[in-house]
Amino acid sequence: MSRIFDRYVSKAREILSRNWTGSYTKPSPSLYPHQWNWDTGFIAIGKAHYDTREAEAELRALFSAQWSNGMLPQIVFNPEALGHYFPEPDFWRTDRSPHAPAGKMTSGITMPPLHAVAVEKILLNTRNQAKLEPFLQWIYPRILALHEYLYRERCPNGDGLVFIRHPWESGIDNSPAWDPPLQAMEIDSKALPPYTRKDTDHVAAWMRPTDRDYDRYVFLVDLFRTLQYDEKEIRQRCPFLIADPLFNSILCRANRSLSNIAEAIGQDPSVPLQWEAATAEGIRDRLWCPERRNFYPFDMVSGNLIYEDTSSGFLPLYAGAATRDQADALYQRIDSLSFCALHQGNCYTIPNYDTRAEGFERANYWRGPVWININWMLADGLARYGYNLKADSLRRDLLQLPIRFGFHEYFDSFTGTGYGSDDFSWTAALFIDLVQEYYRQAPAGRPLRRAFRALTAPAVILNSGTKLPSCPPNELAGELMKSIREMRRDFYDDRRGVVDYASLKGSEAFQHYRTLTNGLRMFDPGDLASEDERLAFWINLYNTVVVDGIVTLDVHRSVLEAPGFFRRARYLIGGRTFSPDDMEHGILRRNARPFGKPFKPFGPLDPRREWMIGSLDPRIHFALVCGSRSCAPIDYYDAGNLNAQLEEAARSFINSSEVMVFPEKKRVLLSEIFKWYEKDFGGRSGIIHFIRRYHASGEIGSYLGAHGPDLQFEYLFYDWNLNRWGR
Ligand code: GLC
Repeated sequence: MSRIFDRYVSKAREILSRNWTGSYTKPSPSLYPHQWNWDTGFIAIGKAHYDTREAEAELRALFSAQWSNGMLPQIVFNPEALGHYFPEPDFWRTDRSPHAPAGKMTSGITMPPLHAVAVEKILLNTRNQAKLEPFLQWIYPRILALHEYLYRERCPNGDGLVFIRHPWESGIDNSPAWDPPLQAMEIDSKALPPYTRKDTDHVAAWMRPTDRDYDRYVFLVDLFRTLQYDEKEIRQRCPFLIADPLFNSILCRANRSLSNIAEAIGQDPSVPLQWEAATAEGIRDRLWCPERRNFYPFDMVSGNLIYEDTSSGFLPLYAGAATRDQADALYQRIDSLSFCALHQGNCYTIPNYDTRAEGFERANYWRGPVWININWMLADGLARYGYNLKADSLRRDLLQLPIRFGFHEYFDSFTGTGYGSDDFSWTAALFIDLVQEYYRQAPAGRPLRRAFRALTAPAVILNSGTKLPSCPPNELAGELMKSIREMRRDFYDDRRGVVDYASLKGSEAFQHYRTLTNGLRMFDPGDLASEDERLAFWINLYNTVVVDGIVTLDVHRSVLEAPGFFRRARYLIGGRTFSPDDMEHGILRRNARPFGKPFKPFGPLDPRREWMIGSLDPRIHFALVCGSRSCAPIDYYDAGNLNAQLEEAARSFINSSEVMVFPEKKRVLLSEIFKWYEKDFGGRSGIIHFIRRYHASGEIGSYLGAHGPDLQFEYLFYDWNLNRWGR
């Protein structure tokens, strides 16, 4: 882990320990003094990485206040912290319900049920599963009861979709999607019980819901308490009953986690699995609008979908409930100017509401800003469907925002300014999770043994087949490039930055390519006419020998599995052998020493030197694809368009999570590629200059111009996992 991540993980842990009350963690120091339902889920997810016992305690505290009908309250009040929040127990009057727990003070509504996901995270991270067993046995029936309650009391149509009956149940309190149903509620404000808001004592009123909204929130609470929290009565009389994609997606995903927990403790997983399937189907069929190609909340009172484009509509990706076609449509929308496109510059992705919608408000709570928890789920969902580049850009922002602007509750999508409460617990917890999941350095293993195996593993000539191509030798390079282009078209997904190795392996296109490579044995690259042709030829061949090697050597998870991969997989070209290392360091880097190795690839008399490229172009480092997640996405390089393509490759990389500039810290966090090839970029000042040239943000560009030489460099751990489809 880089030092800066280390430091901020420590900071995040400090925040969580400051907000820890002894039995649960407050969402924030003062604005939210009690225990909140889904906050606890997110907090436990962060703590699962370093304190199983506390993660467990959080969930135990929350579930100790579960109602006897299974409902898990949105808030469990801390008797010692009363007087700073509205509404409190004296207003909720949950004692009127026969189901409310004795000896606990709670609100009378619930929240998105993330708990099973959190418990699964604890299970996956614990060092001692046996010790966790009693907790799993304790919590499993309770989560099951919660989900049962939701399907029993909140699913009137039996279509797998559960409704929320108050905006606060959604977790996204003042989402613009709640405007139409709230406006449709005819209420007499004067007849409301008297109340005083407390939230605006802590945060400016213009960043919070309006008084008009609050009147409606209060009206609903008043209705529930009048009906003594009787679910049947509420179903009949409540004017706000919404099947929201966010709530249902979390429930759907949580069912999958619940089934995994069931298996871990020897219980039957079939019920949660049936629920998962039913809710996924409900989401797909009932919340999807085919004309608008997006998911929307369904208003059960009016019978209409609510056409507001908020990020809630993207959550079916997190649940895995969207079809491939639906996912593609969501991706189009997510990666557009409305929600900050990839490399748009000066924009943090994904804001909670369409930035081009009339009602978009950049600093107002759930009406525009970027929220860490939503983006954390969306990054997971995008990766699940293979949109790795976009998922990666979200993760970059999720890490940048707290480091640059503080661990706030929410952030301005355009400036990054943090709003709402500072030292916000779920921002801290999910930061920890992200760093641990994606930037934790894999244990080094046994480097000596690996190095020895790498040196001694035999080379494999990949183009030693007997079948020769039918084209004349002077057309071979063209045919080969054509075949690479076709394979790329059919088996590589550049939007997602991944390769479908399994299908490629069995395809005719691959067999044809293999036949053409056999012809390389008699091919003289010196015949390639121009410098651009030579450059494109070697880049494309490098990228394909890597894919060929992955397929032939049967690599599954990482090229590191095959010791000495970049030296072993070889093509015989014009009677000389070429490994990926030879192509990269010998030909394209003009016989430069690879990082950490003692020798240059070609000795003084090596005849392969005659094919070296005329001058080293550092942009090649973003075009060469080493079969790993941290590499650039694979492209086909066309000699006629080479410069523009190399520009694009460099721009994409510089604007990905592999390069993060922190002006406030006078630091740049960057891919190890820049460490390995510092010289190719012209040293550190050359690197700064290079980043400046391609960075999409004008603000960062000018900063680098003014302060470049003062910046400290820190390097990111390189993700060697295979760039294959799926996770
Ligand atoms: C606000 C948020 C909600 C969160 C709570 C405590 O009400 O809208 O999602 O759970 O604060 O952090």
